[in-house]
Amino acid sequence: MAILVTGGAGFIGSHTCVELLNAGYDIVVVDNYYNSSPKSLDRVRELTGKDFKQYECDIRDSEGMDKIFKENKIDAVIHFAGLKAVGESCRKPMEYYDNNIGGTVKLCQVMRDNGCKNIVFSSSATVYGMNNVSPLKETMKAGGTTNPYGTTKYMIEIILEDICKADEEWNATLLRYFNPIGAHKSGRIGENPNGIPNNLMPYITQVAIGRLPCLSVFGNDYDTPDGTGVRDYIHVVDLADGHVKAVKNILEGKKGVQIFNLGTGKGYSVLDIINGFEKATGVKINYKIVDRRPGDIATCYSDPSKAKEVLGWEAKRDIEEMCEDSWRWQSQNPNGFED
Ligand code: NAD
Ligand code: UFG
Repeated sequence: MAILVTGGAGFIGSHTCVELLNAGYDIVVVDNYYNSSPKSLDRVRELTGKDFKQYECDIRDSEGMDKIFKENKIDAVIHFAGLKAVGESCRKPMEYYDNNIGGTVKLCQVMRDNGCKNIVFSSSATVYGMNNVSPLKETMKAGGTTNPYGTTKYMIEIILEDICKADEEWNATLLRYFNPIGAHKSGRIGENPNGIPNNLMPYITQVAIGRLPCLSVFGNDYDTPDGTGVRDYIHVVDLADGHVKAVKNILEGKKGVQIFNLGTGKGYSVLDIINGFEKATGVKINYKIVDRRPGDIATCYSDPSKAKEVLGWEAKRDIEEMCEDSWRWQSQNPNGFED
């Protein structure tokens, strides 16, 4: 019995592998290393003292994936593999629809052909679109996404719902992540974006280490307490723990489609994060206020109560710990896994 982790070498995947192994699950990892390094998986072994099989394969390669299912007894899949850059998705929509949606459909076909019908999917708060008001609840109408990346997440949710409707043996848990930051306490695994980061925390840590000169704060005229955007930042190890709870829940019985927010329920502004980072690390962040970034909303935070009630999961780590851990990873690995 094993859990197949697609995209397991990536940021959230590698942290989830650690938590799954620590919880006693056997895992098999598949990744094409498009946005990651196989070295992250060596570090997962180092951190846990446990071994597992890893395959270099694209999830769209049905033959390669079928072989993985034939060689292992897979009970459930945690599906992280996909492309995730919002701006890039606007420039290359076909690549995003092909990789994220095409990849998920092919993965599900191989799963079905091998009798594995349990999937935990990496969705995103982005599926709530522009029109819902925070705190965001799972019962709110999803859709109204503003970029191809977000639309792939929304469409995959619908596809998985349809698969579960058509065949009641299927169970799909859709986890809507808010803003994952932080890193494993050891500083051995963490987020390693290619090129200039899009997201706030990796941008801050790269300014702190001197790789980038100055953070641009995208707008200070939002209707928020200090005018900058408010988000629900969640420690990646808490998020990883949410996957362990979700997979346990799915393996304990048939549940059909279940949707959970994984967030803290608290909103922090961009300036809160800059101040929190400076306080936690003692490093000053050079920043300037610039125009709003197109497509951004003022405020986005979760109501995480359903995950607590049903899965017994809640986020435990605070902003200070998120900042400290992000910084430990960046300062010990200034060039990511190449160090
Ligand atoms: P990541 O890029 O670090 O990890 C994704 C992994 O998938 C990478 O290792 C990449 O090489 C692999 N991959 C991509 N396409 C593949 C394919 N076709 N076949 C095999 N492997 C493939 O990203 P992450 O931050 O760890 O995100 C994991 C998942 O969570 C993604 O689906 C992402 O969209 C989703 N998500 C992330 C965030 C966030 O802010 N990080 C927020 C919401 C949802
Ligand atoms: N921000 C800056 N400067 C930067 C980067 C970000 O001021 O250089 C601000 C943004 O304007 C926003 C906040 O910091 O107010 C957070 O921005 P991120 O880019 O880190 O995160 P987003 O909330 O925009 O998006 C993230 C993921 C998406 C996902 C979404 C909802 O990148 O993939 O959360 O889950 F869809």
